[in-house]
Amino acid sequence: MRSIDEQGYHFEEWLTPEQIAKDVRQVADRISADYADKEPLFVVVLNGAFVFAADLIRALRGVRCEETFIRVSSYYGMASTGRLEFIVPLQQVVDQRDVIVIEDIVDTGLTIHQLKAHMRGLGASSVRVATMLFKPGKLEYDDAKPDYIGHEISEEFVIGYGLDFDGFHRNLDAIYKVKN
Ligand code: IMP
Repeated sequence: MRSIDEQGYHFEEWLTPEQIAKDVRQVADRISADYADKEPLFVVVLNGAFVFAADLIRALRGVRCEETFIRVSSYYGMASTGRLEFIVPLQQVVDQRDVIVIEDIVDTGLTIHQLKAHMRGLGASSVRVATMLFKPGKLEYDDAKPDYIGHEISEEFVIGYGLDFDGFHRNLDAIYKVKN
């Protein structure tokens, strides 16, 4: 089994590239079915979601769509700060659009809770959320439960496939879980 050591923490491979590909396929199939007659606008949450988003949008079938990017930050090291900072604001009109927010992971739900309110305030017709990972045990905001989930995970910190530890390891092709 592959492993990574970083800042005194030991991470072991948890989702292989093959398992990730299956999860992406399943999410893409559901979105393709739900949005076949719509023109969704994907809002990719940077930095973490860029890897999942690139795979997900290319796995869609028959969906005419657009993509835009937003960059927010709420994390420092392995803990949420509880405050969302808009580092790169939304640059596309979402008024009357069917928005699908793409996240790498939904943890407390703070990011999604605030982003949904933001998109609705800007007039989006609908806002749904697609995420590679979801930590249901840590969810603090009911409205942040994702609509499309690649894989559920317990509360451990993970890296790889877009997810970082202090900016590093987003480029790993698998998802690694911290071991105590
Ligand atoms: P939330 O706002 O608490 O739901 O946190 C969402 C953001 O926290 C994600 O987009 C990630 O950037 C970060 N995050 C949460 N859990 C992890 C993790 O296990 N590994 C890496 N980043 C994480």
